[in-house]
This record gives sequence, C-alpha cells and structure tokens, in this order.
Amino acid sequence: MVDFTQGPAPKGYFSPLRFEADIYDCEVEGSIPKELNGAFIRVGGEYFYPPSRPDDSPFSTDGFISSFRIRDGLVDFKARWIKTPRFLKNLNARKQVFGVYRNPFTADPSNDYADKPFLGTVANTAPIAHHGKLYALKEDAHPFEIDPNTLETLGPWNFDGKYTAQTFSAHPKVDPVSGEMICYGYEATGLCTDDLWIYTVSPQGKVTREYKVKVPYVSTLHDMVLTQKYMIFPVYGYVTSMERLRAGQLHWAFDKNMPTYWGFVPRDGDGSDVRWFKGPASVVMHTINAFDDGNKVIVDAPISDGNPFPFFPQVDGSPWSPQLARHTIRRLVFDMASTGDTYQETILDPTDVVDLARIDDRYISLPYKYVYSSMADASQPYDAARAGPNRAVNSYFRYDLSNGEWRKYFAGDVHNLQEVTFIPRSATAPEGDGWLIGTASNYADMRTELVIVDAIEMKELARVFLPFRMTPQVHARWYNNTELPFSDEVMPPYRGRVQES
Ligand SMILES: [Fe+2]
Repeated sequence: MVDFTQGPAPKGYFSPLRFEADIYDCEVEGSIPKELNGAFIRVGGEYFYPPSRPDDSPFSTDGFISSFRIRDGLVDFKARWIKTPRFLKNLNARKQVFGVYRNPFTADPSNDYADKPFLGTVANTAPIAHHGKLYALKEDAHPFEIDPNTLETLGPWNFDGKYTAQTFSAHPKVDPVSGEMICYGYEATGLCTDDLWIYTVSPQGKVTREYKVKVPYVSTLHDMVLTQKYMIFPVYGYVTSMERLRAGQLHWAFDKNMPTYWGFVPRDGDGSDVRWFKGPASVVMHTINAFDDGNKVIVDAPISDGNPFPFFPQVDGSPWSPQLARHTIRRLVFDMASTGDTYQETILDPTDVVDLARIDDRYISLPYKYVYSSMADASQPYDAARAGPNRAVNSYFRYDLSNGEWRKYFAGDVHNLQEVTFIPRSATAPEGDGWLIGTASNYADMRTELVIVDAIEMKELARVFLPFRMTPQVHARWYNNTELPFSDEVMPPYRGRVQES
C-alpha cells in the first residue's frame, strides 16, 4: 500500500500526483507566435513510491518528462514517467526497493547497482536534444533516450559503446559553431572516483574525442562552461567518500573549508594538459557562459558563498545558512598567460537571483550580452491569503552585461516560476530577439501555467493553462521542428475504428 504520510514527499501544491497525462488543444489566453513550431520539454521528478528514508534528497525523485508541443498557435500537452530500470523494478515490487541519494549501500541488497549506475538512476534532471535524438539526463548514469513524440522511454544510450564513462552530466554543452556536443561524466570509473572523463560527440551522434582528467577532490561537478579553446569545470565544496557511503549517508556533505577549483582542458589537448586555478570556497552549481578574450578567459556564473541545499548537511555540523545560499551573478577572469593559479572574481550586481540562469544558446562559448533568469521580486504584490505564506519566485529578468540594465517580467501574485528558456525569433535574429518560455505554478488555483513572453519588451504574449498542477521541473529546453523529428499529427494520432454512418 502506498503511504506518503511519513515524508519527505511534500504536501499541498507539490504533493505527489503519480499520473501520466495527455491534453489535446490546451486552453490558451492571448496569442502564441505563429513562428513557434517545436516543443517545450521539461524534466523533473516526484516520488512514485515513498523513499526508503525520510531524509532522502529530492534529487532521488523518480524522473518525469512533459512536453508542450506548439505549432500553428495551438498546444498539445503530454507527460510521462521516465521508465528507468529503477522505476520499473519499484513498480514490479510495488514499493521503493532502492536506497537514498546515490548510495547503493542503503538499497535492498538485491539492488547492488554500484557498478551499473544506469540500473539505479532516476533520470530526473534535464532534457537534451542532439543529432536528432532526445535524452533525459541525470549526472549519475548514462542518458536515457526518449521518443520526442510519445515521450516513451527508449532506454540508456552509450553511443555505440564509445562513451565509456559510467556517468553523464545533466549539463552537456552544444557548440553553436561546430555543432558538437561536449559532454562529461564525473566519478567516471565508479563511486567516489576522482576521474572526470570528457567526450566530444559529432553532429551525427558519434563520439569523436575522449579526454581523461583527474580532479583535485571528488565533488559535485554539475555544470561546465565552454569556450572555443577550453572546456572548463568547477570543483567546489561538496565532498563524499566511500566511508561516508558505507555509513549510510547521502552522497554529499558540504565542507566550507574546501577551496573552489576551476579546471581548464584545452579542446585540442587530451586531458593530461588540464590546468587548475584555485579560489575561495563557493558553490557553482550552474554556470551562465564563457568566452575567450585574447589570453584571458571570461567565465560568468551565478555563485553562492556557501551551501544552497539545506538537505545536504554541513560536515562540521553547523546550521544551514540562508545568507550564504544567496546567488549573485559574478564574472571570473582567468589569465591564461600567467604562471599563477589564481583568478579575479567580481560580483556584477548584488541582486539575489535564482541560479537557473540561461542565455541565447546560439552564443554558448562566444562573447554575448544577455543573461536570463528568475527572481523573487519583493516590489511586486503577493497574495498570501490565496497562495500561502511562502513568497514565490515571481519574475523573469534579462540582465544586460554591457550596461547593467535590468528588464523584468512579473508572472502574477500567486505564481512561482520555474527555469526560463530563451527562444530566438529565427536562426538569424540578433541576440535577444525572441521569446521567453517557462512554466509557473499557480499556488491559488492549484494548476500549472505556461507563459510565453516577448524577450525584448518583457511583455506576456500568451499563457497556456493546464487544468491541474504538474510535476516539479528541474530543467527544460525548447527544441524546434528542425532539431527533433516532431510529428504534425495530434498526439497521439487516433488509430481506432471510425463509424462513418
Ligand atoms: Fe542543473
């Protein structure tokens, strides 16, 4: 019998839903730009079965993928569980038989997946499309291929056996110049190993290069940045060990005394030529962008000085600090002509922002101007009587790196926004000319809404209403109909008998 009363699954708006969904021709307010032909694809998770322990991390929730397929101003919605072997094994057992976050020693002994992480993953973090294929990602295993039209899970993929790291990050980067995907896995040769293996995948989906790197210490290596010369990896304060795992603890704890390292791997090298720079303690869970500037490399990221996740404990037992969890947009300058190992770090603006920052992806690895993310704008109204006591992330923003200008879009007084995505108006449109898209949780009416916003004027153009609240998202991406083979039929097309008379 399923019983969620003992936690840690949330109550209220984020309580478990457990269903899959199809809605044809969604309710729309406003006008969806006719140029949009593609899908907004979200990946996140919730527990299908309660976790084995109430202290488990939300990063262990079962993967769930949803899609807003948009064309001709119309929207069809679809949502499916990501059927990893772990999900199916639980379903077969009709209970949770896996352990806590990335710790196989806490699982039922019949589920020792330590050397086969794809058997234990929940694929709940991010979608990526490349070489005409769609994948759901989580950094502890190989990607899971997903049918972009049906959202059915097609299984794990190791690139014809050429991707030999055990793990695959949720944040690969696609080089807009070459079309290559740069992807990587950390703890690449097994639990707690200091191996970072990096791969280049051609636009045709073939592994073309492999780089093997040793990291200064084993840490969360959730995201990276790319320039035309370098692949760049931050290593920061989350620590782990086999002793920690054997003691039954969650994979990560935060050590405020560990320095931040930035590793630079030349794209034309082989990994043995990695160069590490060292700086003060921080957390760089997500990045924004990077580019080469002569002998310098510029890296932008939303950075906090401490642990942003209260569910990962401090190694010294100190209480979690909301102040140290604040993220500010920072610029780091690395002098590649120097012989030192330090870098310059500047807070570009003191505003506390959500670290799920994005750019116009056509400028990945290149000089660029605009940062997009979301924030809790306290100057906007919040209807606590209808939406509950917790203030919400209510606004998207565009931050202009060239002059510090802020532009904001407010989603509503009972709404909490998830990660924003930028869609260019066309392949040749100037940077920033297009739309912002993302979902908002309407806490008062208990439903999910998709907003489409003019990215220059920051004015809402359309809002799509789901008649229910949808599973929480971690990351989402927009892919148009030239990037994935979307069907123009209503999803799914009707195959049954039709009575003509
Ligand atoms: Fe992420």
